[in-house]
Amino acid sequence: MLRINNLEEYHRAYERSVQDPEGFWADIASSFRWQRPWDQVVDWNFTEPNIKWFDGAQLNITENCLDRHLANHGEKTAIIWEPNNPDEEVRRLTYRQLHEQVCQFSNVLKKNGARKGDRICIYLPMVPEAVIAMLACARIGAIHSVVFAGFSAQSLSDRIQDSECCMVITSDGAFRGNKELPIKEIVDQALEVCPSVKTVILLERTGSNVRLVAGRDKLWKDEMEKVDANCPAEIMNSEDMLFILYTSGSTGKPKGVVHTCGGYMVYTAYSFQNVFQPKSDDIYWCTADVGWITGHSYIVYGPLLSGATNVLFEGIPTWPDAGRFWQTIDKHRVSIFYTAPTAIRSLEAAGLDFVTPYLLDSLRILGTVGEPINEEAWHWYHQHIGKGKCPIVDTWWQTETGGILISPLAGITPLKPSYATLPLPGVQPLLVDADGKEITGNGVEGNLCIRYPWPSIIRTTYGDHERCRINYFATYAGRYFTGDGCKRDEQGYYRITGRVDDVMNVSGHRIGTAEVEDAINQHPDIVESAVVGYPHTIKGQGIYAYVICTNELADNDLLREEIKAVVSRVIGPIAKPDKIQIVRGLPKTRSGKIMRRILRKVAEGDVDNLGDTSTLLDPTVVEEIKKGA
Ligand code: PRX
Repeated sequence: MLRINNLEEYHRAYERSVQDPEGFWADIASSFRWQRPWDQVVDWNFTEPNIKWFDGAQLNITENCLDRHLANHGEKTAIIWEPNNPDEEVRRLTYRQLHEQVCQFSNVLKKNGARKGDRICIYLPMVPEAVIAMLACARIGAIHSVVFAGFSAQSLSDRIQDSECCMVITSDGAFRGNKELPIKEIVDQALEVCPSVKTVILLERTGSNVRLVAGRDKLWKDEMEKVDANCPAEIMNSEDMLFILYTSGSTGKPKGVVHTCGGYMVYTAYSFQNVFQPKSDDIYWCTADVGWITGHSYIVYGPLLSGATNVLFEGIPTWPDAGRFWQTIDKHRVSIFYTAPTAIRSLEAAGLDFVTPYLLDSLRILGTVGEPINEEAWHWYHQHIGKGKCPIVDTWWQTETGGILISPLAGITPLKPSYATLPLPGVQPLLVDADGKEITGNGVEGNLCIRYPWPSIIRTTYGDHERCRINYFATYAGRYFTGDGCKRDEQGYYRITGRVDDVMNVSGHRIGTAEVEDAINQHPDIVESAVVGYPHTIKGQGIYAYVICTNELADNDLLREEIKAVVSRVIGPIAKPDKIQIVRGLPKTRSGKIMRRILRKVAEGDVDNLGDTSTLLDPTVVEEIKKGA
């Protein structure tokens, strides 16, 4: 019932999802374990917005991820953990063991005062305990806020403060390639300004020496010894918050995207099963980090809801060498592999010598996510990794969508390189022009909107509902606006062309230009800055910063290094500018608005097509910028 098996079934399911969305989703939802059925399948408006799925129903998502599987596949492997160092021992957890660990850790949370509705921050490397911690929060009804363990102390404290977390779950350190990151030190620094945090639970991963704050910091292993593994799941309403995940927008600080229990559960499982078409003996590996939405939906919830066997990888694709992914695929006989175009491009650049030693014969299905995949990289992936026989699912979605919205269904939808192809059943995309007028027909291009809610759509931005309304529902009245540009070809296939707002996509990471500018402006010698994305052969987009200094400096290279260091400290290394141009002025209109279009063109190297510059306050600025580029 959940599963579409061929193209005809897809078209039928799609048709029904549009004609009778309530009946369609009610049928899908009925295959889960609910404590109480819903009163209404969906109740929504995109004006406030106010969106409710399966309202009135009661459930706990962890009963569906874990308890539900125990009777028939308790001994099936849920997690295969591949450590950073390939020589370190692999850990395997069956569904029964995972269930036990989650229940036990749930009791640790409760014993330390956590209650339903509390926010708990998780700042951990990719270890099974990250999954256990997330599920334990969900089991007791606490709201997890996972922060990627590459973010700085300041980014971490911003996120903890915004949602007033009462607890942080973290580790002593983290291994990443040949580096060891001082995770606990970063947490300690962040917590200097986070009075809401009363407890820190510390997992020992690297064994490095760390300072424990008396009364606040407790060791994971000690706490686990004090409790048993019996923890009935808290009964949650379908629309209770499940988690908050911070993501960058075009203005201001990252915002906390809120997902709720029932709809998110139904959609992540439905999309996982239909996009990846898993079989019971598949070994599935998604290389994302649990700190991003891909990790939430397609490492933790979607696969576990589906009873899949999941590889969890702690390391990086290029260590000990650029063959690590391919070696790991052979080692665990991975059959479904899901990664980012950036990783593919960088491994392609490393050369085939890192690929040919491996058989890769276990692979059945490949996937990509997070950014547009260029045709060249698509063909390389298809030919050299998939050996020409594995379908590639190019999955388009966002933190706010909770799950994959536009993608081929593996082995079912005919593929077209660089196209995310067709919407999943239940997803109604439309293209609009700048005035919000719908662009109908095929062979067209516009801004991508969605006209009807799907179960895992964003509900609010934490603590600031108005921001949610303005960001996603106010640009085009009555539509959810994605922020992406999109083509629809003659066949009706969708191709996402990239962001049309001030959000960059650097190595598949979403970064706001305003955030980077704010960080750069913290450097004492900088008066003003403007940041834009530009095409980058490996990263997809690179970060180009134009900066104005207080006065002429003796050493511009030193300044550039310092700026990079400031951005790393304020946001994290992923947001470091690739290019920094020192300028004397920025192209501004008479009303003081920076004309980013011009800066983007210069950053792209397209200096002869700057368009109309007559509205600029001082057009000579542009000539100078062109010369200095
Ligand atoms: O621009 C789109 C791009 O990534 C953005 C969403 O970023 P984030 O919320 O971090 O989630 C990434 C993982 C789902 C989108 O607005 N994007 C994501 N997937 C694709 C993509 N662009 C093109 N093709 C994709 N398959």
